Amino acid sequence: MKKDFKYCKESRVMRTSRVFPNDVNNHNTLFGGRLMSDIDQVASISAAKHSRRDCVTASTDSVDFLHPIRPTDSVYFESYVTWTGTSSMEVFVKVIAENLKTGERKVAATALLTFVALDDNNKPAPVPRVIPETVEETKLHETASERAKVRAERKKESKALAQFISMNDPWDYRLEMMENAYM
Ligand SMILES: CC(C)(COP(=O)(O)OP(=O)(O)OC[C@H]1O[C@@H](n2cnc3c(N)ncnc32)[C@H](O)[C@@H]1OP(=O)(O)O)[C@@H](O)C(=O)NCCC(=O)NCCS
Repeated sequence: MKKDFKYCKESRVMRTSRVFPNDVNNHNTLFGGRLMSDIDQVASISAAKHSRRDCVTASTDSVDFLHPIRPTDSVYFESYVTWTGTSSMEVFVKVIAENLKTGERKVAATALLTFVALDDNNKPAPVPRVIPETVEETKLHETASERAKVRAERKKESKALAQFISMNDPWDYRLEMMENAYM
């Protein structure tokens, strides 16, 4: 029988990269956009390993840049599924910078993202629940349902806000403002 749960370790993804000249910003530290793209990539693989389905990023819930990453550092990414709803999965990503000369390590960034598994018709599909084992996994798992509530609230707010987002060209928008002013 197919099991209806998976351990966090079954979705674990690990990857180590160098920082190349193309990847840095004006401060000669790793460009945040580059880091976010790599975070999304490893997290999406964790979601796919957990669900064994196509998955989409539903939200990037948090990305915290805790320490700058320098060209002399290696960059280690680790991600795994920490919590599941019905079709959604929360994925945690940690980024550890290691100074290659001294061996000093720092948690450079942490991130939490939500992915949704899709069926063959691109509709949300159920995923197995997840079971934590380590202290870190358990802490993230235990605190996840609170974060899920916050996400649900934020989604409601985003939907409400979307009603007010203009899709007009800027010149139409100015016209609209002038029309309103003369009413
Ligand atoms: C994510 C997506 C599939 C959800 O579809 P939907 O019609 O809103 O689906 P539902 O309302 O039935 O929600 C399905 C699940 O997604 C979760 N979800 C939907 N929007 C979410 C959001 N903004 N943040 C977090 N979770 C979200 C719901 O909580 C629900 O979880 P559950 O099944 O565990 O209870 C849809 O909004 C989408 O396709 N978005 C674009 C995704 C994308 O293009 N990503 C970037 C490239 S990968």
